[in-house]
Amino acid sequence: MHGSTLVGLFLLALAIPGLASNPPPDAAVDPSAEIKTLAPKVVVKSGRLEWEAHKRDLTPWVTLSHEDRRPTPKPRRVDLNGQLNGDAERGRTIAMSTLKGGCVNCHTLPGEDWPGSVGHLLMSYRKRGNSDAHVYQQIFDPRVFNPNTVMPAFGTFGLLNDQEIRDLVAYLQSLN
Ligand code: HEC
Repeated sequence: MHGSTLVGLFLLALAIPGLASNPPPDAAVDPSAEIKTLAPKVVVKSGRLEWEAHKRDLTPWVTLSHEDRRPTPKPRRVDLNGQLNGDAERGRTIAMSTLKGGCVNCHTLPGEDWPGSVGHLLMSYRKRGNSDAHVYQQIFDPRVFNPNTVMPAFGTFGLLNDQEIRDLVAYLQSLN
């Protein structure tokens, strides 16, 4: 093999997390075990977890959460400035798209046969009578209302921009 190819392969190995580096110190791993990765097992009525060998060694696939040390942005309170100016049709596309909002992964919305059930039913959402500003805040950063929510802070985390959130608000408020 040509020397520069070897150097290239070496650099590639460095670039792929887990190939060249050891698992991060906080990964659930027992380096001496044959199958290194540990899986949690709930000890009933004890409030404790026990760790047992996972079925497969998953250490080559270190997750982003292990590698990414950036602090989580703090919950952000926002005001909806000016007119809503949202487009309900665009909002619907964002809500249904797994590449964008993906709201149907957790919420039931009209026209989706296989919605998630972690969040509320959002059918007939308009009937709740929430203000546009409230719904905008809920999508921008729901942690303002519930610090332990599993709903992503779409605005604060930069997943959706201001206009996309306005479109979603217009869409939800159009659901009679
Ligand atoms: C990972 C799951 C998840 C995703 C994805 C998600 N949500 Fe939620 N959502 C929740 C949960 C759970 C709640 C219940 C309240 C809470 O825990 O914050 C909620 C609450 C809400 C509410 C308040 C409901 C009410 O009764 O007023 C709205 C509105 C909402 N979500 C809209 C959205 C929109 C729009 C999207 C997509 C951009 C979205 N959600 C994506 C989980 C999710």
